[in-house]
Amino acid sequence: MGETVLVTGGAGFVGRHVAKELLSRGHRVRALDLMIDQVHSGSTRPDELDPEVDLVVGDIRDAARVQAALQGVDSVIHLAAEVGVGQSMYAVDRYTSVNEYGTAVLFQQLIEKPVRRVVVASSMSIYGEGLYRTVDGGLREDVVRGPRHADGSFDPRDEAGRALIPIPTPETKQPALKSVYAINKFVQERLTLTLTAQYGMEGTALRLWNIYGTGQALSNPYTGVLAIFASRIANGQRPMVFEDGQQRRDFVHVADVARAFLLALESPAANGEVFNVGSGADRTVEAVARLQAASMGRPDIAPDITGKARAGDIRHNIPDLGKAKALLGYEARQDFAAGLEELSEWVARQEANDRVDEARRELERRGLVA
Ligand code: UD1
Repeated sequence: MGETVLVTGGAGFVGRHVAKELLSRGHRVRALDLMIDQVHSGSTRPDELDPEVDLVVGDIRDAARVQAALQGVDSVIHLAAEVGVGQSMYAVDRYTSVNEYGTAVLFQQLIEKPVRRVVVASSMSIYGEGLYRTVDGGLREDVVRGPRHADGSFDPRDEAGRALIPIPTPETKQPALKSVYAINKFVQERLTLTLTAQYGMEGTALRLWNIYGTGQALSNPYTGVLAIFASRIANGQRPMVFEDGQQRRDFVHVADVARAFLLALESPAANGEVFNVGSGADRTVEAVARLQAASMGRPDIAPDITGKARAGDIRHNIPDLGKAKALLGYEARQDFAAGLEELSEWVARQEANDRVDEARRELERRGLVA
């Protein structure tokens, strides 16, 4: 017996994949989505949104729209958010309004009309720097990245000047909120866990690592790094790599993330908990840029290592996935090389589609199509 699930931000990159997964598991899906231009380039229903999804167009900060979207809903997956770490450092009011106030509006309505469970998308960004160890094995929880060292390295160091080594970060690490986005995500997570418990609902937060996959917003310059690299390579341009390219991340395929949301929605053990969600394999940004160029048939396009750090960025952060495995039974399945291949093919098709549209408009403009 499926549930009716409201996915806020359900027409977005992650939302569409979550919706598909929900539908395949016998749930009904409603999406509340603003269809903002930066992401959707035009506000028509995206092709990749499953036709079975009931789409409500509206702002998460609009109480009346949220109330309408909640009619007949059993559970909520809250994804609606502004998602760029870099952009959050200057678009402070917009990020804080959508991410924090928007979540507050959602809960104001949920207090009146509680659901069984709310699962919220949190982020690894809330940890700040991940967990590190010193060369002799001491753990460091409170690492703060400084400016670039005189020798050109960006890696955090211990008091003796020795480079610290990033190790998997568990959910027990204290948050260190280093960007407006991280502050926003922590507030979303806490509002969800505090208010669900207070009002007889269940709550779960997923701290997501770097998600990639088909359907990522290519026209959004603040989208995830793999989508940015893919469109640059497709246009014959070199990927621009910040810092020295040696920063480590865990890139997780969107299908694995969608499965994690289903597990978080359905597992009794998930109530009241936060979980890291990643792939379990970490890579440097430079290595990924090279792999991607190769997978797109352009091994000649070398990354442009800029040596400049982006405000608010974390140096290294990789997940400890033990808790997600133990309590949710979550394990990533997607092979990275195959995932990149799929992304590259999709990006190539998008470029082709763009050109087809452009060509069609040109013909129309000249009165050459009926
Ligand atoms: C991303 C997500 C964020 C999510 C977080 C979880 C986006 C827009 N942001 O943030 O919502 O919560 O993962 O981990 O998807 N970089 C380059 N060149 C570029 C762009 C980025 O070198 O052109 C570097 C960045 O400096 C950073 C790394 O790539 O070191 C990842 O950047 P990005 O994809 O923006 O992800 P996060 O900031 O980690």
